[in-house]
Amino acid sequence: MIEKQARIQALIQSIIRYLEAHRSANPGVGLTLDKLAAMSLPEQPLVDVPPQGTRHEAVLQDAIACVTAPELQEIATCLSAAKDDLVWREDNAQYYAPGADLGEGYKRCNFHTLLIGPDGCGYQQADFNLGFFMLDRHTLYRDHNHAAPELYLNLSPKSSWRFNLPQWEGYPAGSLIWNPAYAPHATRVDEHPFISVFAWLEKVKSPCNVIQFDDWAEIEQAFAKNTRIK
Ligand SMILES: [Fe+2]
Repeated sequence: MIEKQARIQALIQSIIRYLEAHRSANPGVGLTLDKLAAMSLPEQPLVDVPPQGTRHEAVLQDAIACVTAPELQEIATCLSAAKDDLVWREDNAQYYAPGADLGEGYKRCNFHTLLIGPDGCGYQQADFNLGFFMLDRHTLYRDHNHAAPELYLNLSPKSSWRFNLPQWEGYPAGSLIWNPAYAPHATRVDEHPFISVFAWLEKVKSPCNVIQFDDWAEIEQAFAKNTRIK
């Protein structure tokens, strides 16, 4: 195995170890681990794809530096070691139906990498995704849903989430969020950049749907002010 593949494999293993230690956090953790176990990853060959950097490298470095929780250090260290081996991509609404109203903040800065998936830089899997997803600070990822059941592991010190309700709830570093198929969810990123591990368990080619909430403009205008002040 070449060094690059060893670093990516170590990163995937660090995520699996964290999930194993938190199997009871919500029903999605066990479902994700069961899917991963069925892949028999140790016996599978790792792919060898050319890395692809991101124009948001500064945000990526800032986000990794903000991962300070001791129980997340192994993942953060492995990600720092492997980040230049990975293929970083942005969602220019290709995960959404044409004309989806995602808002300026999301379009300005969202990026992800797939460790396992159809275009994974670790292992190829046709209908499963495991990767990292990032947003810059002061960003609203508007309410949406999708057919893919989704697990998030929040690595940033704090992010706010809501689930088909107007009220936001803060989630700390290390928290795990399970969004069953078609469950509405939104993420609000305040003072720290958002860095997370995410998994889509199936139906990874199904599009996401934006769900209208009438407070988007208010939240985004407040964030825009913050962005200009910076
Ligand atoms: Fe989602």
